[in-house]
Amino acid sequence: MKDMTIVLGITGGIAAYKAAMLASLLTKRGAKVITVMTKGATAFITPLTLQSLTHQPVYTDIFDERDPSRITHIDLADSADLVVVAPATADFIARAAQGMADDLLTAVLLATTAPVVLAPAMNVHMYAHPIFLQNLERLRDVGYYVAEPGVGPLACGYTGKGRLMEPDEIVEFMDMVLTPKRMSGKRVLITAGPTRERIDPVRYLSNDSTGTMGYALAQMAWRMGASVTLVSGPVAIKPPLGVDVVNVESAAEMREIVLARASEQDAIIMAAAVADYRPGTVSERKLKKDDGTRSIELVKTPDILMDLREAKGRHTFVTGFAAETHDAEFYAKKKLLEKGADMLVLNNVLEPGAGFGPGTNKVTVFFADDTSVDVEKQPKLDVAKELLAMISERLQGQKDLANDQSVDSV
Ligand SMILES: Cc1cc2nc3c(=O)[nH]c(=O)nc-3n(C[C@H](O)[C@H](O)[C@H](O)COP(=O)(O)O)c2cc1C
Repeated sequence: MKDMTIVLGITGGIAAYKAAMLASLLTKRGAKVITVMTKGATAFITPLTLQSLTHQPVYTDIFDERDPSRITHIDLADSADLVVVAPATADFIARAAQGMADDLLTAVLLATTAPVVLAPAMNVHMYAHPIFLQNLERLRDVGYYVAEPGVGPLACGYTGKGRLMEPDEIVEFMDMVLTPKRMSGKRVLITAGPTRERIDPVRYLSNDSTGTMGYALAQMAWRMGASVTLVSGPVAIKPPLGVDVVNVESAAEMREIVLARASEQDAIIMAAAVADYRPGTVSERKLKKDDGTRSIELVKTPDILMDLREAKGRHTFVTGFAAETHDAEFYAKKKLLEKGADMLVLNNVLEPGAGFGPGTNKVTVFFADDTSVDVEKQPKLDVAKELLAMISERLQGQKDLANDQSVDSV
């Protein structure tokens, strides 16, 4: 969003105060945020707050023409890379759905050709009202994006659907809207995080994976238009917006979910750090400390990547991850070959800025056709973007091939 012009519309709902946080987040991301407030919005939050946070003028009145050489609503509409209305009241949505232009914000909405994001917020019964829902549908039909409200306690005292989407999630939603849809219509399953292999009810074997790489892949695949399932081991990070998350604990549980859904996927990305071994027996009771040493017999966990050879669909594109500390390239190529994956992403976990943890990654990607690509050190979300670009390119290649074959057979 850096250097983009975002027109932030604020309407007269109790959640208007959260628009200040949204304005601040967008400004910190480097966007030029121009605020347009309805008269109702100014009853809840002052233009001065928005002006101070965005360092830009704030507009409230369609007839307040400050520059004689311009017509403000057309100028704002043309300059916008994206228009976001947060919160969007029921009243505003009704007026927008009728194509009205009776204030500055509705006029900007009609005049813009930029993408429009609406983030409704209101009382639970208002949100469920059939007329409101028809109005919202009408706006969806003309291509407006709706950042759906959450379910929770509302300022009116009710609990239900109507809470404004949280500002950081609205930013993520806007990122999705602005991302080219290279994976539109594709189904992608991603695994992430560590697994835990139980020793007893309070202890387990695990590893240092934080899930960041897998979650970044899921977030980016959603932004690119894919329908994403994220099968996640236990992690401490927030689930990405728009993604169907299935939480699992052990390698065996992960295997069960992945194999059950494998055949319907266009792509599967195995970014989880699945334990290779588990304790041979799991004690039902907490093991007590006693004198002397204790040993745990370890047995192999299932090899999910290997099992995918059978379970995946005919055209499912499978990507494996390898975390290595030595002879990395040798082991990565071996894994790619033995497990029949289409692509293997190697992180050398001992290299600075690569491997486990939040922050950056630096990987080498190996393909089944013996080619490889180095992806430079950068934030994990950017690494995810590059990896998904490679995957979508290959999925497109498969489609082109299938089309060619069907033409041949005519
Ligand atoms: C205290 C208070 C809170 C309100 N909260 C909401 C709200 O959360 N959502 C909503 O759609 N309308 C809410 N309204 C009603 C709107 O303010 C009213 O429909 C107004 O006409 C909206 O004008 P606007 O859409 O031009 O900003 C609230 C009104 C009051 C007095």
